[in-house]
Amino acid sequence: MELDKRHIVLGVTGGIAAYKAAELARELLRAGATVQVVMTQAAARFVTPVTFQALTARPVFCDQWDDRVGNNMAHIELSRAADAILIAPASADFLGKLANGLCDDLLSTLCVARECPLLVAPAMNVQMWSNAAVQRNVARLRDDGVTLLGPASGDQACGETGPGRMLEALELVEELVAFFTPKRLAGRRVVVTAGPTYEPIDPVRGITNRSSGKMGFAVARACRHAGAQVQLVAGPTALPTPAGVTRRDVLTAREMCDATLAACAPACDVFIAVAAVADWQVTNASERKLKKDEVGTTPELAFAENPDILRTVAALPEAPYCVGFAAESEDLQRNGEAKRRRKGVPLLVANIGHQTFGRDDNELLLIDEHGTQPLGRASKDALARTLVAEIARRIGADESASTP
Ligand code: CTP
Repeated sequence: MELDKRHIVLGVTGGIAAYKAAELARELLRAGATVQVVMTQAAARFVTPVTFQALTARPVFCDQWDDRVGNNMAHIELSRAADAILIAPASADFLGKLANGLCDDLLSTLCVARECPLLVAPAMNVQMWSNAAVQRNVARLRDDGVTLLGPASGDQACGETGPGRMLEALELVEELVAFFTPKRLAGRRVVVTAGPTYEPIDPVRGITNRSSGKMGFAVARACRHAGAQVQLVAGPTALPTPAGVTRRDVLTAREMCDATLAACAPACDVFIAVAAVADWQVTNASERKLKKDEVGTTPELAFAENPDILRTVAALPEAPYCVGFAAESEDLQRNGEAKRRRKGVPLLVANIGHQTFGRDDNELLLIDEHGTQPLGRASKDALARTLVAEIARRIGADESASTP
């Protein structure tokens, strides 16, 4: 799981978004983290400590003078084992305290005494968020190296609309996963194709394939987590866009090719072709729906070969580092290596078995000029992380990467 072995101190301060912090605690646990909740007195007026205690199976601390910690130094002990402190929601008042180093309760003292990174997810009314003093405090916190997560814009509990909403629980978990990922591709531009393509036969019928897009979306997400600027060119799929990724939806192979070439210009460092692109398009597609009684006999389709997107990008004068994917039903290594050479790419990722469409896991084999390297069976997200590390190593981009 993506937050395995991470210990998070979840600080909850007084605001209506405190109700979302209960779900956040749950999602952090689900992602593999251990969670220690610390609340302010005001937070305990919105949600009781018992809720968090039941969810995390740990005592919840609210009081600086709590004598449950052996040496009676809860403000120091609670954060020592933490990989990060996440304050969600962070009220305007609490941001003010943090920006000024005040220590008048357990949570603020804990933050000042910390040795680990501090992330805050502001939540407040839109007017409060735009108040000059709050913005001053936020700017100072950024200068002090505190990571701001959000806020989002939208409907607020008070009935007003605008920036100030706390990010949703899953968005915060996603931000935390990204925060802990080494920035191996920082400053790099990456283009990823994903999903199937669709070749129309008439306005309501077409030829497509069973690709779900999950592997390509996982690769785009992992590149983003690694600090890259990512453009995703997606065939028809209902998957949500990974946070921070720019997405362009396309239908046909030709559209995918045009969108990919546009995304690769003027400069792209890495191109990862995960899409299952249709090899042929229907050249006699009808503008009107084909009607049985009008066609009379069985309709005949004529085909023309689609452009090979990967080969086209790999042949560009200033080609990016190109990575292909391949599903082979037999003789994986020989066919994979032949395909790698045919496409003119340094790295080909072969799916072991072709029943991976739509699944959340996969088994991959890397093929490059030195031979093959199995990545084993794992979730598509985990494989995408490993693949990104392998690509970064091959382009010499991971030397300066650091994990918080
Ligand atoms: N690919 C592409 N454009 C195409 C066909 C394939 O960019 N028109 C890319 C895929 O995204 C993948 C790689 O090429 O990264 C291999 O795709 P695959 O379908 O396995 O290879 P094909 O060239 O279509 O060969 P075949 O289907 O005959 O095995």
